[in-house]
Amino acid sequence: MSTDAVVTPEGLVPTGGLPGAGTVSVAPAPDLHEPLAAASVVAEPEPAPVVFDVSDLSVFYGDYRAVRDVSMRIRRNEITGFIGPSGCGKTTVLRCFNRMNDLIEGARVQGRLDYHGVDLYAPDVNAVEVRRRIGMVFQKPNPFPKSIYDNVAYGPRIAGTKKRSELDDIVERSLQRAALWDEVKDRLKSSALGMSGGQQQRLCIARAIAVDPEVILMDEPCSALDPIATARIEDLMKEIKTDYTIVIVTHNMQQAARVSDATAFFSTEVNPDSDVRTGLLVEFDRTATIFSNPHDQRTENYITGRFG
Ligand SMILES: Nc1ncnc2c1ncn2[C@@H]1O[C@H](COP(=O)(O)OP(=O)(O)OP(=O)(O)O)[C@@H](O)[C@H]1O
Ligand SMILES: [Mg+2]
Repeated sequence: MSTDAVVTPEGLVPTGGLPGAGTVSVAPAPDLHEPLAAASVVAEPEPAPVVFDVSDLSVFYGDYRAVRDVSMRIRRNEITGFIGPSGCGKTTVLRCFNRMNDLIEGARVQGRLDYHGVDLYAPDVNAVEVRRRIGMVFQKPNPFPKSIYDNVAYGPRIAGTKKRSELDDIVERSLQRAALWDEVKDRLKSSALGMSGGQQQRLCIARAIAVDPEVILMDEPCSALDPIATARIEDLMKEIKTDYTIVIVTHNMQQAARVSDATAFFSTEVNPDSDVRTGLLVEFDRTATIFSNPHDQRTENYITGRFG
């Protein structure tokens, strides 16, 4: 869980990685021929290393292409927000990042989705290991009907951790990280179903954290929460991004503007001949650019409330 940990593709594929894997972020060599202009003295911050490199991705449900033209780079220790009107494919694309679409009959991807330089959809990639490294938190808090402790210990137990003291440590650390420990430390044996919605969602985040993932995917994690619980989750996301890479789908544009470093705006297009609606990625950029100076008119219309 350390910030310095470099995640390598080893273990994702049985042969211990693909050639060249893990070398996706290469700083350009400085140009020594140009005189030093004033602007170049003020160094731009280095972009963070790339975790997911998506190029020209489409997702199909059977013959229906639900979303197309998805190209983006998700960077380490950043929060990337997905926004756009209902049905434009945000959830569909999010599920690609940990191969959750594998569990949906008829779903398939076209194009390329690399995780640290490894094609996530290569036949020898272990989807179970993918889902351990890339956790998911859903729209509706979905704790198991078990105790608070057992919810958090669930993943580590499946992964083979049996020693009580080790499990105790993981449970405490994960609940601390999810800003829930102080509220629940005296009732770890109580049912998780007796918690408030906001507490349940933080428990789900603790459960995701407990298996030591690198990435956490969140699909509208605050849509069932009141503004105070929402603010707690937003604070939590900003705090834990030093340890994780986060991708969040949200319908709340203020939330995207508040928490995310990069934003992807998706929309839908209707084919006038067939009347079929397809989602597509319209624009992906730094959040400040998307919200203050978008390049595409469709993005501008959406963020100014003229559409959707
Ligand atoms: N399991 C599925 N089987 C078939 N079609 C699906 C499935 N899931 C989603 N779709 C279709 O794919 C398209 C994109 O859906 P998706 O749920 O990804 O949109 P979304 O942007 O997340 O919408 P919302 O904001 O309402 O959650 C829609 O046309 C939807 O009907
Ligand atoms: Mg959705």
